[in-house]
Amino acid sequence: MDLNALLKQMTREEKIGQLIQLSADFFGNSTELTGPAQSWGLSVKQLSTIGTCIGGADAASIRKIQEEHLKIDRNKIPLIFMRDIIHGYRTIYPIGLGLVGSFDPELVGECTEMAAKEAAAGGLHLTFAPMVDLVRDARWGRVMESCGEDPLLASTMGAAQVKAFQGDDISSRDHLAACVKHFAAYGAGESGRDYNSVEISERTLRQFYLPSYKACIDAGVKMLMPSFNDMNGIPSTANPFLMQQVLRDEWGYDGAVISDWAAVKELIKHGVAADLKEAARLAFENGCHIEMLSDAYYKHLSELIDDGVISEEALDDAVMHVLRLKDELGLFEDPFHQADDARGRDMYLSPEHRAIARKASAESAVLLKNDGVLPFSEKIKKIAIVGPFATEKAIIGPWSALGKIEESVSIAEGVRNLLPDVKIRTSRGCGYLYDDTDLSGFADAIDAAKYSDAVIVCVGEPQHYSGEGNSRGTLCLPGVQEAFVKKITSVNKNCAVVVFSGRPLALTDIYDAAPSILQAWFPGSEGGNAIAELLFGRSNPCGKLAMTFPKTVGQCPIYYNRMLTGRPKKTPDGVYQPFSSGYLDCGSLPLFYFGEGLSYTTFEYQSMTLDSHELDESGSIKVTVSLKNTGERSGKEVVQLYLRDEASSAVRPIQELIAFKKVSLEAGEAVDVTFEITEPMLRFWNAQNEYISEAGRFTLFVGYADHRYIEDSFTLIK
Ligand code: NOJ
Repeated sequence: MDLNALLKQMTREEKIGQLIQLSADFFGNSTELTGPAQSWGLSVKQLSTIGTCIGGADAASIRKIQEEHLKIDRNKIPLIFMRDIIHGYRTIYPIGLGLVGSFDPELVGECTEMAAKEAAAGGLHLTFAPMVDLVRDARWGRVMESCGEDPLLASTMGAAQVKAFQGDDISSRDHLAACVKHFAAYGAGESGRDYNSVEISERTLRQFYLPSYKACIDAGVKMLMPSFNDMNGIPSTANPFLMQQVLRDEWGYDGAVISDWAAVKELIKHGVAADLKEAARLAFENGCHIEMLSDAYYKHLSELIDDGVISEEALDDAVMHVLRLKDELGLFEDPFHQADDARGRDMYLSPEHRAIARKASAESAVLLKNDGVLPFSEKIKKIAIVGPFATEKAIIGPWSALGKIEESVSIAEGVRNLLPDVKIRTSRGCGYLYDDTDLSGFADAIDAAKYSDAVIVCVGEPQHYSGEGNSRGTLCLPGVQEAFVKKITSVNKNCAVVVFSGRPLALTDIYDAAPSILQAWFPGSEGGNAIAELLFGRSNPCGKLAMTFPKTVGQCPIYYNRMLTGRPKKTPDGVYQPFSSGYLDCGSLPLFYFGEGLSYTTFEYQSMTLDSHELDESGSIKVTVSLKNTGERSGKEVVQLYLRDEASSAVRPIQELIAFKKVSLEAGEAVDVTFEITEPMLRFWNAQNEYISEAGRFTLFVGYADHRYIEDSFTLIK
């Protein structure tokens, strides 16, 4: 398509229309406007100019909207259809925070490709994913969609998603364009409250929060979304430091930018724009090409051009970003992008796609505690499955696109599928909401637990307690579930507590009582099958935590790569050291660490060898870690390599993950895992805010967070 020729034939109104995104309910009727289109006061002519649409139920309805649109658009410019495909389209896999704990970028890619295929068949052209906001505070409900608290993990998994969504060619029928979000530091909102202000130093921002967005840009992401929050007083949508200096000048990003939902108009509520016209100017001047679902551009861009505030060239440039994306998607040749509900139906929840989702659920679950009760024997005759999640099918997660709760597998169904002959007794026992205080169901569940050979206690928080807008001020199991766990585990010790949640919960109060704890997250359509297989040892847990689990909410924000303090606690935990950094009542360390997760087998780290103890700027050090599966079953282990800079011009974290590899070992098998260390891996934002490495000694260790299995050190010579 000759985009320049197309642009030339467009009127100003038509150009501005390309920069406006409306929802599907605005479209579809080209003669008489009803609903939101009417309340916005749009004419048919104005509607015909709109560039992109958020939503659309399936290929048939999207095709219909596109057909109607092309009938009325004088220039025949197709709409782009966008939607949030976060952890699956119809076949749902675990929430992001769980999935990235697989530490397996290939698996993340496999799940994402599946989602791309399904969503593209369903008519979508772009997904508002990946979400790579670094997170450190479990109160924030959106930690569930994130890639966790570590910059390397988030960068790796974000890039893996971009590549899998987009493939080599976004015009291909199985791929979509991706949109990285929310730029920047949306996860650092004060007090863990969604949409809240972020106060952050430039060093912290650059060191920890920006790399994951950059990694997605380097992976070729086609679109970027600024975040809702203000950062150091400036909302991202109108933040020249973020949107101009970092994104365009430093990183050279030249892709499309879309606002978050009504974020342009919200510049007024933030108090940085006096009115809608100023909001339009601020967002546009900061390179926001498309305005999602508010009317600042539609009402005021033309006037701003007449006033000479915005140039015609700047308008053309913004429009070209949208047209280029349409061209790359191949929409001028095929406005439907080969959307096909029949093809979709062959894929949705097909055995192949369910198998991918099941594998992902199994590899995301994290075994947090096991006093030896797990795996359960398949020879048991009677099992009690109790608690509010025992038969709950609403375990697919809060951002499940077209996923249907009734199409998921509950834990009780999973156990039934696995062991058809076992006698199962289920009992809800209690509710899982804050105000569920009714204890009357306890008796039946206790009875079931008493007279069974094994018990699965299924607890957690409901899906709608995490996700957008759903921050929590406490992190305990809601309602009376803690008391419930204690009661059940007191009558039968052969007991597994399975926790469903969209965030790290503070499990301190049930920790001692529970013989074993499995963190299942929201595991998706195949959750029940995957968890049943784990509990009975058909598969072996290998997930690790991508986010620290605090002992109590008062420790938040809490993260493994905390800065070195001058007054650290000397004891591993709990014991009060006077005049040191911690709490009198809960210590400073978490309940479970980033990178932590047990297996049914045991791994012994036998040695770590460096082929040199000196590194110069052009060289590298080969690190060889010898690892043995010393248990009796095969298993997977994530070998995590951490670094500590022993002295630097600015304070650095106590440890930073610099590489990881997941390996699979048969019982008794040993392997050597190698890593290469080069000078760029040692760089940081120093006291002068330069991104460089500084000469001196570095400690390396394998293990996780504060657990060092083996360590060694080397010197960087400059
Ligand atoms: C608001 C959310 O913040 C963003 O993540 C999402 O992509 C948009 N709504 C569109 O649904």
